[in-house]
Amino acid sequence: MKLAKDYNSVMGRSAEIMKASLGLDFNDFESGSVAFDYEGLMTATGYTIEEIDKIQSRTGVGHTPLLELRNITALARKYAKPGYGARILVKDEAANASGSFKDRRAACAVAHAKKLGYKGVIAATSGNYGAAVASQAAMQGMKCIIVQECYDSKGVGQPEIVEKARKCEALGAEVIQLTVGPELFYEHLSVMEDSGYFNASLYSPFGIAGVETLGYEIAMDCRERFGKDPAMVVCTQAGGGMVTGTARGLIKAGAENTEVVAASIDLTGLHMASDVQFNKKSCTTGHTGFGVPHATNPDTGDVPRSAARPLRYMDRYVTTTQGEVMYMTEMLANLEGLERGPAGNTALAAAFSLAQELPEDEILVVTETEYTGAGKHIQPQLDFARENGIEIFFGNPDQDEPGKNIVLPENPGVFKVKELSLDKMRKSLIKRSVPRAAGKLTAEDIAFLVVDTRSDEAFVKAALDELGVEY
Ligand SMILES: Cc1ncc(COP(=O)(O)O)c(C=O)c1O
Repeated sequence: MKLAKDYNSVMGRSAEIMKASLGLDFNDFESGSVAFDYEGLMTATGYTIEEIDKIQSRTGVGHTPLLELRNITALARKYAKPGYGARILVKDEAANASGSFKDRRAACAVAHAKKLGYKGVIAATSGNYGAAVASQAAMQGMKCIIVQECYDSKGVGQPEIVEKARKCEALGAEVIQLTVGPELFYEHLSVMEDSGYFNASLYSPFGIAGVETLGYEIAMDCRERFGKDPAMVVCTQAGGGMVTGTARGLIKAGAENTEVVAASIDLTGLHMASDVQFNKKSCTTGHTGFGVPHATNPDTGDVPRSAARPLRYMDRYVTTTQGEVMYMTEMLANLEGLERGPAGNTALAAAFSLAQELPEDEILVVTETEYTGAGKHIQPQLDFARENGIEIFFGNPDQDEPGKNIVLPENPGVFKVKELSLDKMRKSLIKRSVPRAAGKLTAEDIAFLVVDTRSDEAFVKAALDELGVEY
């Protein structure tokens, strides 16, 4: 029988489509209320960190160089108080097969799809993950479809997104290009249903487990070279997989005291699903438009429960600006000879400021670099911003107004991260979790929320009292 393919019919079949396309029944981990068995879901991958390392090593992924940024460290120290300015190192994730840490996720997802007997893989992403899945699919002999939101309603695309679409095609994927709007999820489900391919979701346990090797390698490399763990690890935050996987890997290596800091570009006020605002931004990932919603409401992606749960793992969440990241991109190239893309440099822009809070003998590791390419460079981004009416000038990042201007720092001394309130985000996560409860919240729900928000019972109960929710 032919299935109806209109929007409502496909969305109505989303649970069965997701189940068939992941080879995993999320109901096995549900409690019927707010709580679910997160660790059970993560171990359902059935892969140990050693096995993941083996999969990645076979496919050009992982064991990337850990580079010390001596000149940038020296510059940060000029602006720090005496004795301060930690050594800044960066994991050169651009050395992975398709040029970003996303290969770690894709290697596992594609290997898992192959093991389960699927003929191909699908991912819905406008980001580097598309290239990662396309590259891994080519390497592991699978077919690949990437569904991307590329354009506004006039068919105009942000240079970086267009660049990423080109890269997926170059790597042999079929790319379905969409305009911004709600059809992404529909199209993704519909193509999964028609093709019978595996859902190589960014948020599956297979994908997130793949990032654990990154945190693990950082801890092991630092111990070997410096005889100690890093004091701080800074991760660019969008969907939360980087923070979650890296922190889990650090914990698996026993680096329990390393502070995990999430960093995003502040795009407050710009709406990601808005046709008009879609092209007013000069970065396409690692910004608060993804980072905050995914931290406070993780279960909204293309799987019933997200394995990326960054609030469980972050010690701090800081923001930088588009201008700071652009300046840092040039600083990394000019001072260290490393020409790399913007998303990795988001964490580095934050790290330049954060290193100044730490003593000189401490180690700060930025978890990644990413590849660069024509659409990712500063110049096309600034040209595109100008064409979209954005004012560009040198000044203090305090003057930053997303969607209105780009403020390039007038000197390196004005880099300064802003702190987001984790308590506010914790309360937001609790509020968004409540509708899953059938009636009163159970003791199991409260215990789950304590872990999911990395808080304590008193905090969760106070938040529920504030909301007038019974437990
Ligand atoms: C190069 C790069 N770094 C960092 C991120 C953020 O990772 P996550 O979405 O797992 O938070 C992304 C993804 O969007 C990325 O492509």
